[in-house]
Amino acid sequence: MISKSTIDKVFDISRVEEVIGDYVQLKKSGSNFKGLSPFTEERTPSFMVSPVKQIWKDFSSGKGGNVVAFLMEHEHYTYPEAIKHLAKRYNIEIEETEQSSEEKEKASERESMHLVNEFAKTFFVNQMLNTDEGKSVGLSYFKNRGFTSETIEKFDLGYSPDEWQAFTDQALEKAYKLEFLEKTGLTIVKGEKRFDRFKGRVMFPIHSMSGRVLGFGGRILSNDKKQAKYLNSPESEVYHKSKVVYGLYQAKKAIAKADNCYLVEGYTDVIQFNQTGIENVVASSGTALTPEQIRLISRLTNNITVLFDGDAAGLRASIRGIDLILEQGMNVKVCLFPEGEDPDSFAKSNSLEDLQSFLDTNAQDFIRFKASLLVKQADEDPVQKAEVVRDIVHSISKIPDQITQEIYIQTCSNLLDVSEEVLFSTLAQMLAKERKDSGRGLKKKSLQLVKDEPIEAPVQKVDHQYVLERSIIQLLLRYGSEKAYFIDIDYDFEADQPIEVKREYVVFEKIFVELQEDEIEFSNSIFKALFDQIIEVFVKSGELKIDSFVNHLEPELAQEVTSILMENEKNQLHDWKRQEIFVLDKSVLDPREVMETILNLRRYLIRKKVQELSEVIKEQKENVDIDLMRETMEYNGLEVLISNKLNRVL
Ligand code: CTP
Ligand code: MN
Repeated sequence: MISKSTIDKVFDISRVEEVIGDYVQLKKSGSNFKGLSPFTEERTPSFMVSPVKQIWKDFSSGKGGNVVAFLMEHEHYTYPEAIKHLAKRYNIEIEETEQSSEEKEKASERESMHLVNEFAKTFFVNQMLNTDEGKSVGLSYFKNRGFTSETIEKFDLGYSPDEWQAFTDQALEKAYKLEFLEKTGLTIVKGEKRFDRFKGRVMFPIHSMSGRVLGFGGRILSNDKKQAKYLNSPESEVYHKSKVVYGLYQAKKAIAKADNCYLVEGYTDVIQFNQTGIENVVASSGTALTPEQIRLISRLTNNITVLFDGDAAGLRASIRGIDLILEQGMNVKVCLFPEGEDPDSFAKSNSLEDLQSFLDTNAQDFIRFKASLLVKQADEDPVQKAEVVRDIVHSISKIPDQITQEIYIQTCSNLLDVSEEVLFSTLAQMLAKERKDSGRGLKKKSLQLVKDEPIEAPVQKVDHQYVLERSIIQLLLRYGSEKAYFIDIDYDFEADQPIEVKREYVVFEKIFVELQEDEIEFSNSIFKALFDQIIEVFVKSGELKIDSFVNHLEPELAQEVTSILMENEKNQLHDWKRQEIFVLDKSVLDPREVMETILNLRRYLIRKKVQELSEVIKEQKENVDIDLMRETMEYNGLEVLISNKLNRVL
C-alpha cells in the first residue's frame, strides 16, 4: 500500500490546474481557469478549474472534484493508480507501508514478472521493426492484414524470431532471472533445455486497463496444421485470463465518450476495427465473458454491443453467456454480421461510414433478438416452444431493474405470441426458485405482479428539504469561520415578553447550536456526513481549508462539496453583467441569510415531524396515546415560535 505520508505529499505538491492542463487547454478567467469539457463534445467552455480551491467542475456533465477525481474520471485510473501517476509527474518517491515478508515476496515476484513482460514486449517490437527477419516475416504479415504503422504501434505488435531461444538468451543476458521467464510463460524450461514459447510468431501484447503488459497472444505464420494458430501466455500471478479484457487499455477513452462498448471475439477484430476508425471495441479473447470482465467494462459504460460472426454455429451457446451481462445491469445489444463475414473481414472491406451505419442499423436489443431467433427455431413444436419461452424469461429474470423487466415481458408477449400473464407467472416462479436456491433473498426486491397500472412518470418536484440542507452546507463551507452579529430572541421575564438581543457568533457555532435545539437530523445522508465532518474540522482547528478538506473526503462527498462551491463560478461562464441580469453577490456574509436558512430548515423538519405524529394519532383513533398528543402539541408550539422568529428576521 502507498503510505499516508506519500499521499499527503502528492496532494501537497500537485496543482490541479497543471495536471488538468496536461489534457485540457485552459484559459484564465478571473481567479479561475476555463476550458472545453473533456467529457462531452462542446463548443463553448463549461469546464472550470479553481487553483485557489484546487478543485474542478464540469458544468456540462456535472462531474467535478479534486485532482485525483479528475484522473480517475479522465484516465479511468483507480485511486492508487491516480496517486502513482501524480507521484511520477511531480517526482515524488512512493513510500509503501510495511508489508509482511510474505506480502513483500509476492509483490516483488509480481513486479519482477511485470518487468520481464515489459522487456519481452520491447524485444518483440524491436525484432519486428529493426531486423531483416522481423521486417520480412512479421511486419509484412501485419501490413498484409492492412494494419498501418500507427496501428501496429498503438497495439505494441511485435515478432518473436523463429529460433529456439533467441528471446530467452537476450533476457538472461540482460540479467532477468530464469525463474520469472518461466513463471510468465515466455520461456519453457525442460531439464537443461529452454525454449521460447512464442518462437516464430507475431505477437499481440495483452495490457491491463492501465497499460501494463500482463501477457501475450502469438499467432503462427506457417500453415502447419499440427500447431495451434494462436498461443497465449499461461495463467500466472500477473495474468488472469478471466480478469483481462483485450484492447481495453486502448479503448477506454473511446468507450466512455461513445458510452458504448463493442465486444468482439479476438485480437484481429479489435485491431481491424481500430484501423477502420472505430476505437470503442474490446475482445474477451476466446472465452465467454466473465463477471470480472464485465465489471471492468461497466466502469466506463452501461452499454455493450456484442458482435457475432455471420456463420456462428455456436451462436446459441454464445447467447447463453449474455445473461451474465444482463445480470450486471448492463444494456445489451447484439449485431450479426452477414454470412461468411466476421468483424475483422467486414471492417477491412468497408469504409468507416459503411461500417458505422451497418452497426447502427443492425444492432438489436438482445432480448428481442433472442426471442425472434428462438421462435424461428421452435416453429410449431409446442414442447420446444415452451422451452424457448422459459429460456427467454430466464434472460429477463437476470435484469436487475423491475421496470425494464416489465417492458420486456410486454414486448416478448407479442413476439412469442404468449400472454403476458403466463410470462409474468413464469418469471415469478423463476425468481422465487432462484431466491430459494441462492438464499440471498434480500438482494432482489419481491416482485409485484400487479399489472395494468400505468407507471407514473416521475414528477419533478422541488425538494425543499434537500435545498435547505444543501444551503446549510454551503453556508458552512463559505462562511463557517467568520464572525457576525445575530439577533436572538430571548424572553424578558420581568416584562413578560420576548425581546431581541444582538449577539456575536462564529457562523458554524450558530448553525450548530440552532440545529441542535430540535434534535432533528439531516435526512440526506451525504449532507449529514458532510455536516458532521465540517463541524468536526471547525471545532478542532477553528478554520476549514477547502483544498485539504476536499482531498480527505470520500469521492461522493467531495463531488458534492465541489458542486456546491463551484455554483458561484458558474455565473462567470455566462456574461451576466453585460446582459444586465442581476446576480446576487453571494461572496459577502449576510447573517440574515444564515438565520433564514436555519429557521426555514428547522420549521420544515418540525412540520414534517408534526405530520408524522398526526398520522400515527389518526391511526390510533379511540386509544390515543396521551404522551404522543403532548409531543405533537409541543412541536406545534415550536413551529409557531420559529415562524415568529422568521418574520422578525426578514
Ligand atoms: N483466436 C484465438 N485462438 C484460436 C483461434 C482464434 O484466440 N485458436 C482468436 C484470435 O484472437 C483471433 C480471433 O479469434 O483474432 C479470430 O480468429 P481467426 O479468424 O481464426 O484468426 P485470424 O488470425 O483472423 O485468422 P485468419 O487469417 O485465418 O482469419
Ligand atoms: Mn479471421
